[in-house]
Amino acid sequence: MTNRRTLNLAVAFTLISCWLGSATVQAWGPEGHRIIGRIAEPHLTPQAQAGVNDLLNPLNSTSQLSRLSDEQISCWADWIRHDWTNSAPWHFVDIPYNAAQYDPIRDCTNHNGCVVEAIHTFSKVLADKRATREQRLEALKFLVHFVGDIHQPLHCAERNGDKGGNLRMVRFPGRPDPVNLHYVWDSLLLEKSLSDRPADALQYADQLNVQITKPQEVYWKRSTVEDWATQSHKLAVQFAYATVPANGPPAALSDAYIRRNEEIVDIQLMRAGVRLAAILNETFK
Ligand code: ADE
Ligand code: ZN
Ligand code: ZN
Repeated sequence: MTNRRTLNLAVAFTLISCWLGSATVQAWGPEGHRIIGRIAEPHLTPQAQAGVNDLLNPLNSTSQLSRLSDEQISCWADWIRHDWTNSAPWHFVDIPYNAAQYDPIRDCTNHNGCVVEAIHTFSKVLADKRATREQRLEALKFLVHFVGDIHQPLHCAERNGDKGGNLRMVRFPGRPDPVNLHYVWDSLLLEKSLSDRPADALQYADQLNVQITKPQEVYWKRSTVEDWATQSHKLAVQFAYATVPANGPPAALSDAYIRRNEEIVDIQLMRAGVRLAAILNETFK
């Protein structure tokens, strides 16, 4: 018979692993990913729009039309992460805090893959005429999600082994309990922006979209996936980790920190949407 104490320990261990597992591999919350899909849509060429629509909405389908901004499409990669365990490293790249830029061997190959490589891999699958329809649809869903993740600054950084701030607790204004810094950047900053406006996530996406200038669009599209990771890492160092000591009790985030970084989140959502469209336009050429 199993010893009761061993059983209790096993149960406790399982619960703690599940809790740690879910606490350390999150992504932009659903709103962030939906906003990015929505921003991308009007930047698609007619050809890419048709290609995306064909994959998302097979002719014989009777269900409602699917779009990039649907949670079932843009967040699907998060839903399957726990069953498809080797996909977990594809959501981020741990570029060391002191590094000047992304290094593929140090940051990706040595870690069973990363978000940079995943974006390259799934772009190729999506463009591959010999791939099955299912494989291409899956590649599209991975791409929409990962182009979002790579633009969350803390998905491209780690400090003191903190897994992009997942292990660093902070105090967020108005919240009674400490939260982890990664969650602030995945969800709370955007949640704050949305709660201060009479707009839902998709209306907010449309408001961001009209702020994008043509020169910004041209400049953002010109960069490589590796540049996106390096840029995110720089934003993590300069903004996300700024004023938060690497160790010690939960640091209080100031109102100035929140205000400044709501703007960084906005710009990253805009860049992600434009660059997602650029990848899809290239793929469906
Ligand atoms: N898990 C480990 N490092 C991570 C990061 N930088 N972002 C999200 N999840 C992670
Ligand atoms: Zn993710
Ligand atoms: Zn995250």
